Formats: sequence, structure tokens, C-alpha cells
Amino acid sequence: MRFKQIEAFRGDIRVPGDKSISHRALLIAALAPGVSRLVGLSDAEDVAATKRCICQLGIAVEEHAGRFCVTGRSLSHWREPQAALDCDNSGTTMRLLAGLLAGSSLQATLVGDASLSRRPMQRIVDPLTLMGGQLQAKTSGGRPPLVVAGGKLTARDHRLPIASAQVKSALLLAGLSATGTTRIWEKHPTRDHTERMLRAFGCNIDYHTGYVELRGGQALNPCDFEVPGDISGAAFFLVLAAVTPGAELTVLNVGLNPTRTGVLDVLQAMGARLTITVQRTEPEPVGSVHVLGGKLRGFSVGGADIPRLIDELPILAVAAALAAGKTEVRDAAELRVKESDRITALLGELTQMGVRCQELPDGFVIEGGKLKGAHVNSHGDHRLAMSLAVAGCRAEGTTTLQGAECVAVSYRGFFATLEQLARGGKQHA
Ligand code: S3P
Repeated sequence: MRFKQIEAFRGDIRVPGDKSISHRALLIAALAPGVSRLVGLSDAEDVAATKRCICQLGIAVEEHAGRFCVTGRSLSHWREPQAALDCDNSGTTMRLLAGLLAGSSLQATLVGDASLSRRPMQRIVDPLTLMGGQLQAKTSGGRPPLVVAGGKLTARDHRLPIASAQVKSALLLAGLSATGTTRIWEKHPTRDHTERMLRAFGCNIDYHTGYVELRGGQALNPCDFEVPGDISGAAFFLVLAAVTPGAELTVLNVGLNPTRTGVLDVLQAMGARLTITVQRTEPEPVGSVHVLGGKLRGFSVGGADIPRLIDELPILAVAAALAAGKTEVRDAAELRVKESDRITALLGELTQMGVRCQELPDGFVIEGGKLKGAHVNSHGDHRLAMSLAVAGCRAEGTTTLQGAECVAVSYRGFFATLEQLARGGKQHA
């Protein structure tokens, strides 16, 4: 796919339903006996993987005009899968489903594509095993396939060595079927969508400073839930507008959960002119973000801020490449175990585009300046594909992106919206 530098544009856009929230809505609705109606669910490939897996486990999911009806059952009434559960590219599907199944009496094998098959699973296998779960990562180094043989779980206190919402969520879902109270202590707060979703489905779950706790054996009630737009998808267009002088963009109906809005804080620190309007706060904060394009400056980020923007670091690196001055990202070694090694892969591609950057074990340094058109590669990673497409739209000359199709993992309509904005944008909200 080819990109040329785009001119100033104006537009109001909507983005697909939040991917993280969509996974949780499906999995938790599947556990709540009765019919839950889900609106605004993401149509991404990752979410389709979660849908297929729960259907294989005996849960009915029907769609009527964009509304999904999930007929949930208590875990003891789930069906043993007749074939492996294919989580495709989705780490969230594999980790959350493994946590949920660890407390069932079912035998299941969870597999993924080549990228997911390289990702670390020991981080859930160890704490779930301590709870009495019987599961194994079958490839050396704790990689998939994951074989889960069910088990009787006993709740415990977990202190998570890495900040990971997927690990926390796997343990919370396991905690639902454990005897006793599960407590999870986090080094830094991570996205709290599982906690909010469980609450929406009638579960008592308590937040305290530094930890969250949940009593096992609670029954869930079905619920109607509206999934807000995905701030991680919106981030590509917010950055594109912020780095395009004269551009003006509003993203409507987007999730504004504070555990996810680190990207907005960084854009503001870079000097971007943002107006954030919160329309409601429960069960998930939702609103709109308006941005005016202009000149940005470099930023520094690390520590507790990283989990709030971990998925947005690739697109923020593109913003940094176009900003004045130096950017430094630290404490983000987790980027190396995402859909690709996002530090090495992204910096390699940005170097092709003429960016002066330095790889660090846990992050990177970028000297801001200009982007030059080049042949770049997505490494099969959806967030790199979208970041490089935005880079191509602000680079001098032509950029050719190889492996662009993987955007469907999280955002099927990405290129349609990009093309619309490149044509000057128009109102379609
Ligand atoms: C996610 C958590 C994060 C994030 C991923 C989605 C989730 O991963 O990078 O894209 O939905 O819980 P980790 O939990 O591995 O940090």
C-alpha cells in the first residue's frame, strides 16, 4: 500500500468498539446465565477469535443489526471443546480464556498463530498453578499451545511482578470459581475493564490502593452493555491530526477510561491542543476528543505512566519523530513481547524513514525532525502497520507499506477512514 503526504483535513470520526472491552463483554456475558445484549462490539479479528472460542464452548452468540445476544451459562454447564480453541493473533483471548477455564472441569487446548505462539504464557501458568489449576504451556520458554485440564481452585494473594491487565484479568476470572477471596496486588495500575465489566454483571469486586479483591463463587447476572469506541484505534488519527498543521479532528463516542488515556496526557505534554469532553463515567467513561494540528515537542515517559499508554507507544514514536527535540521512553520492555518486538521492529522501520533513534533495552530515544518516504514493513503487527501508515501520510515523498492487511486484527475500517481524511475529511459521524 502506498502513502503520500496529506494536507490539512477536517472531520468528525467514530472508531470501532474498544477491543479490550469487547473481549471482556463476550467472556463475562458467556458466564452469566441468561441473555446479555452487547452493542458497539468491535468487529476486529481478535474479537472474532474470542467469539468463536466461546461458541465452541457451548455459548450461543447471535447478531441482529449490530446487536449481539449472548446466552450465557454458568461455567459448570459449558461444553468440552471438540477441537483446539484457536485464539488466532489474540493474547487477550488466550490469557483470559485460560484463566476462566482453569476453574472448570473441562479439558481444552488453546492455540494461536505464529505471532501468538511466540508470546510468553508462563506469566499466567505460574499463578494459576499456585491456585491449583492444571495447565501447561507446551513449547519451551512457556509458549503456546496451552493445555488446560481444569481443576479445583483455591483463592490466594498474588503480587504481580509485571504490570499486565491480561494477567490480572486471567486471575480475576479464575478467582470467580475459586474457594475464598482472590487479592491481586499490582506494581502499577493497569486497565480496569475486567473489574468494571464484572461489576456491571452484578459481581462484588473491591478496589483498594494497590490491590483489587474478589470473593469466589459469586453468580453473575446478564446485562445489556454498550461498548465505547476504542481509544487505541482513535490514537492513530488523533496523532495524525496533531502533527498536521491546520488539521482539525473530533473523535466521537470514544472510551476515556483513565487507565487508557495516557496517550492524551502525552499529546498535551507535547503541546497538542486537545479538548476532552466526558459525557458519562459509568460503567466506562465515554466522551469526545477534539484536536487542532500544529507543532509538537518531544516528551519523556516511564514508570507508572507506561501501562496507561503501552499500546500507543508505536504511534507516539511517530509523533516524536515529527516533533522538535528529543523523546525518551523507559520502563517499556513489555513492548518486546507484543505482537512483534515493537522496539526493534519499529525503530528499524523509522530508521528507514530517516529518523535518528536509539534502541534501549526497555524503550527508545528519538531525535525529532522529518520523515522521509521509504519502503517499510509492518512485521505482521497491526499497531505497527497503522503507525507506519500515519508516518507515510506525513513523510516527504512516497511510502510503501508491506503487510498492511494485518490492521484487521484490531481495526478493519482503518484505511477507509484514513483515505477519507486524506481527501480533506468530511462529516460522517
Ligand atoms: C490488554 C492488555 C495489554 C495490552 C493489550 C490488551 C488487555 O497487554 O497491551 O493490547 O486487553 O488486557 P498486557 O496485559 O500484556 O500488558
